[in-house]
Formats: sequence, structure tokens, C-alpha cells
Amino acid sequence: MEKLIIAPSVLAADFANLAQETQMLNESAAAWIHIDVMDGVFVPNISFGFPVLEAIAKHTTKFLDCHLMIEKPERYISQFAASGANMITVHAEACPHLHRTIQQIKAEGCLAGVALNPGTPVSVLEDVIGDLDLALIMSVNPGFGGQKFIPNSVRKTTQLKALIDSTGKDIYLEIDGGVNQINAGALIHAGANVLVAGSFVFASADPKATIQELMTLA
Ligand code: DX5
Ligand code: ZN
Repeated sequence: MEKLIIAPSVLAADFANLAQETQMLNESAAAWIHIDVMDGVFVPNISFGFPVLEAIAKHTTKFLDCHLMIEKPERYISQFAASGANMITVHAEACPHLHRTIQQIKAEGCLAGVALNPGTPVSVLEDVIGDLDLALIMSVNPGFGGQKFIPNSVRKTTQLKALIDSTGKDIYLEIDGGVNQINAGALIHAGANVLVAGSFVFASADPKATIQELMTLA
């Protein structure tokens, strides 16, 4: 497993210049591109769906890390896979049959991830962790980019790292929300190996340099 992966979130990109933004990410040190899908039901915001994912997939060879903030995501797994998703991460809070949904993602040939809201304990993952390729800790309440990092996320990262280590498997530990150069070091130290960064990357004067800067914190 790579030491550290940066996954810039295109939620913070300029949607009117998506081709240039994707090209910038292609040239960057980011190994993954983070795709935030919101349905206006699970979270109080609507972002974008299949056409945007397909458009990005057409212009990149980077790994597409799809974060589904939608109710009952099992209805759309095959369509996300067909649209170019490599990783599909669903929310534990949105899945009444979480184990079945994880198996469904794998059956579509994608890697499977589960995300936890700030108010959801790491223990929710105990009975599925061995089936996962990735576990994601939300370090803000999902729905919007540009929010302030919740400090308790570092403690949760330590707990999740211990749970992952107990499986003896290589499972990505991803942090999403308010990540910047101030909190990234503590998250990496606690065991995170995938950092999502939206506004910190896209609002910076030189996004490629900012991605590189985050990489050097590992
Ligand atoms: C929040 C999204 C995040 C967000 C990250 O609901 O899941 O991926 O876009 O953006 P920043 O880094 O600006 O918090
Ligand atoms: Zn996200």
C-alpha cells in the first residue's frame, strides 16, 4: 500500500472549466480524484451525478474515488461502476443492509468503502471491516466543502487504525473534510493514508504545489 494518497475533491473545482481542472489533476502528484455525490436527502445539498463522473472519467487515468452521500445507494451501484468509479464508498448511516451493499459493490468489480459521519462511532464497522477496501472518517458533517475540521476526528482515526490492524489486512484509511497542512500531520501520524482535500487545494494559488506540499507531510 502506498504511503500517502492525496484525493482532491472536485466539489471545490470550477465546474465551468472541468476539462482544465481534470488536466491539472492529471499532471499533479494526486493518485486519486475524489467525487462527492449528494442527493439532497441524505445530506442537505445536491452536487452532481453520472454525467459529471463520466466526463471526468473520459479525461483521466487517475483512480476515481466516489463518495456517495445518498440514501439507499444500493439502487445506483451498477450505474456508478458503469460510469467509471474505481472505489465506491457508501455511508453506514444510509445503508439498512450494509453488508449486502458492500458485496454488491465488489460484485460490480469496484473496491468497496464505508464512510462514518462525525456522530457515528468507529465500532459500527466492527462486523464489516474485514470485507472493506477502505474506511472513511468524515471530519466535517457531510454536505458542503469548505467547513471547519472537527478535532475529535484525530482520536477516531487512531481507533479506526487499531480496528484495521486487528484484521491484518491492507485497508485504506481515508479522512474527508477540512483537511489542510495544519491537521494533515496529526492525521497521518494517527494512521490515515488517504487524505481528501477540496477547498485547501482548489482555493490555493497553485493547486499542484499544494498537493505536493501535502504529500511531503507523510
Ligand atoms: C463533504 C465532502 C468533502 C468535501 C471536502 O461533504 O464529502 O469531500 O468536498 O472539501 P473540503 O476539503 O473543502 O472540506
Ligand atoms: Zn467526500
